Amino acid sequence: MRHLAILVASSCIAVAAAGDAVNADYFTSTIKPILEARCVECHGPKKAKEDLRLDTPAGIRKGSHDKVVLVPGKPAESLIYSMAATANKDDRMPPKGDPLTADQLAALKRWIEAGAPMPEAAPAAK
Ligand code: HEC
Repeated sequence: MRHLAILVASSCIAVAAAGDAVNADYFTSTIKPILEARCVECHGPKKAKEDLRLDTPAGIRKGSHDKVVLVPGKPAESLIYSMAATANKDDRMPPKGDPLTADQLAALKRWIEAGAPMPEAAPAAK
């Protein structure tokens, strides 16, 4: 594990310099709670708007019924980031309530820039 952390840190020096190494544990400790607090109500087991589930790595990788929502390394092309970060209120996620905080957006961006590591390596079985 220590080995992995060093590997991740050295391959993304700029990212690692900002704080904790961005690895699968970062998803579990930081990203998943954001999605659970603000997104899973509508994109989870109870409701899955646009067929999009953000409660599991498999669901995030799969995307919606017709769109990819995560492009590792590219936050601007990742709808789970760009739709949360947009200044356009009509397009913003979540569609109601406060937008994500600056810290939450920064964490999402940082995680995607680092390649969006998540615990399961394999894509979801359909
Ligand atoms: C209150 C319910 C609700 C919440 C909470 C919510 N969404 Fe959505 N989401 C929707 C609805 C409804 C749509 C489809 C209509 C639209 O695009 O506005 C949608 C669409 C999307 C899409 C586009 C899917 C597609 O195929 O076009 C993405 C990506 C998305 N949401 C991400 C998120 C993220 C990330 C969060 C949390 C930061 C979030 N949503 C929170 C209701 C919600």
